[in-house]
Amino acid sequence: MDLTTRYMGLDLKNPLVASASPLNADLGNLKRLEDVGTAAVVLPSLFEEQIEANVARYDHLTGVNTESSPEAQSYFPAPAEYKVGPRRYLDLVRRASRSLDIPVIASLNGTTDHGWISYAKSIEEAGAAGLELNIYFIPADLSLTGHDVEQRYLDILKSVRAMVSIPVAVKLSPYFSAVGSVALALERAGADALVLFNRFYEPDLDIARLEVLTDLKLSQPDEIRLPLLWLAVLSGRVKVSLAATTGVTSADEVVKYLLAGADVVMTTSALLRHGVDYVAVLLAGLTSWLRAREFASVNQMRGIMSRQRAQDPQAFERANYIKILQGYGGG
Ligand SMILES: Cc1cc2nc3c(=O)[nH]c(=O)nc-3n(C[C@H](O)[C@H](O)[C@H](O)COP(=O)(O)O)c2cc1C
Repeated sequence: MDLTTRYMGLDLKNPLVASASPLNADLGNLKRLEDVGTAAVVLPSLFEEQIEANVARYDHLTGVNTESSPEAQSYFPAPAEYKVGPRRYLDLVRRASRSLDIPVIASLNGTTDHGWISYAKSIEEAGAAGLELNIYFIPADLSLTGHDVEQRYLDILKSVRAMVSIPVAVKLSPYFSAVGSVALALERAGADALVLFNRFYEPDLDIARLEVLTDLKLSQPDEIRLPLLWLAVLSGRVKVSLAATTGVTSADEVVKYLLAGADVVMTTSALLRHGVDYVAVLLAGLTSWLRAREFASVNQMRGIMSRQRAQDPQAFERANYIKILQGYGGG
């Protein structure tokens, strides 16, 4: 079975990528991910705030343990290890890139196009095969317009693009009024790939203690629907590679994302729940699905259910939305 794919200019042996998470801050986990078949790994992000202040305060990230199995918890590096400063981050990039044969993609996470961006160059020099930019940005300043927000994404990308020659991916938020136009603008500004979507941090309220809850919930399979829609809409209509992230729980979600047109499918929550060996289960599930439908390769099935190639493109549009609302039978 030919599982090969191409993502942001990199030839990968299959479409399964371990997305940024604390698991990938540990060299032992990274090696194990490679051993069980992962095609590429994304390192956890180096945050603008870590670079600027050289101090990290991301305690909410460790709250994830509550939902993990004891087995999965053993894969967690100690919090102090995860909250690495820039120097240790570059060391991780260097060691991971040297030790692994699969591509190591580093991740920078920030919101301005200021000094921290120069770390893109250091990351390239440390040996990363690619760079993922996570522009995690909540426009809480009410004077900011949609155009301002989009421009910020473009400014950051252009500054990074001018600095490095390795491929650059942008991990996008779904909250644009026109995702397609933003995708095209990022493509023109030099993105090699788009990662759909950043899972937004959504705090809850504790009504007994009157506190803001800042825990992080692992994803559920029905969360694939928003990225699935936009992958299906963009597939075949943009030149950049497309990565799916959010909601992979079993091989079913991997298959769905590929049918919609993803070049690679990323997973974090499933690995935090079940441990890094779970990649082998996802790959086996994908292979047996392909075999059962007599596909000889991933390339043959990729995008056949995208908006451009689906038998019923209207299924992705307003007409279908009206049909669904009017046809709702309860339950
Ligand atoms: C504990 C934890 C830490 C994460 N850290 C990062 C990070 O450093 N940078 C980043 O871009 N995404 C980070 N993510 C987001 C994941 O890479 C992924 O995009 C998201 O969890 C959705 O995928 P999933 O449904 O497979 O978990 C993190 C997610 C979790 C659960």
